[in-house]
Amino acid sequence: MPTINILVKTIDLIELDSIIESYDYKTDPLLTAHFHQIETKLWHRIESYCCNTSSYGAALSAHLRRVSQDGHEFLTDALGFSKKAANNFHAANLFHDLGKTHNAYNEDIWNLPYRPTDDQRAEKRLHTVRGTEIFLEAIADLPLEVQHHPHLRIVIPALQMFHHERLDGQGYAKRHGDEMGRLIKALCIVDCKDGDLVLRGHHVDRRTEKEALLRMKGLSDYDGNAKYVGAFDEMLDHYIHHRELKTGQNILS
Ligand SMILES: [Fe+2]
Ligand SMILES: [Fe+2]
Repeated sequence: MPTINILVKTIDLIELDSIIESYDYKTDPLLTAHFHQIETKLWHRIESYCCNTSSYGAALSAHLRRVSQDGHEFLTDALGFSKKAANNFHAANLFHDLGKTHNAYNEDIWNLPYRPTDDQRAEKRLHTVRGTEIFLEAIADLPLEVQHHPHLRIVIPALQMFHHERLDGQGYAKRHGDEMGRLIKALCIVDCKDGDLVLRGHHVDRRTEKEALLRMKGLSDYDGNAKYVGAFDEMLDHYIHHRELKTGQNILS
């Protein structure tokens, strides 16, 4: 298995769009025979991850479930991916924030009562590669042909390492828009929206979905510090339209 440094440099995020269509998680004999037990263990690790004062694992697993479900709907209903590919995405994406449970973290970092400092922000960003570290360790004893299955070798590590990318190259791994396919762009949008809906320790009110999406659009009324200007392309409009159809709510008008 290649190291994380090699994976982070070499995974092709455009090719990912066809790789996700190339197998079927639900019926694949290699995954069924060897991988589902490991997934159960990793999912238990996430759900039972706990801080001293609150059970962060419950919030984290709920976030992962919501993003997987939302992404599944967006991929099939709006972007033309097959049901099989969307199911593959759903299963893999449940582990995109696995790195937040890495032993190197003091759990309290996920529930700060104030805005994180620059150092804390940098530490939190490491959850992308730390997720792949935990994952590669968990599958290290599987037969090589299972380790080399695209679901394990490419899809899960890609969703872990690249779910915080931005079109302008200012994301965690600094990939640019022209290196990103539709699947990863979709995940970056769906994950960002859900993250912006979470009530943090330093927040007073929870944002609405409309507020979160308008903030992602970089509209000044909703985004005083222009955090997301340059982060997304027209796929965000596509996603907003998809959500308008789904919820019956007007977001852009
Ligand atoms: Fe994340
Ligand atoms: Fe996330």
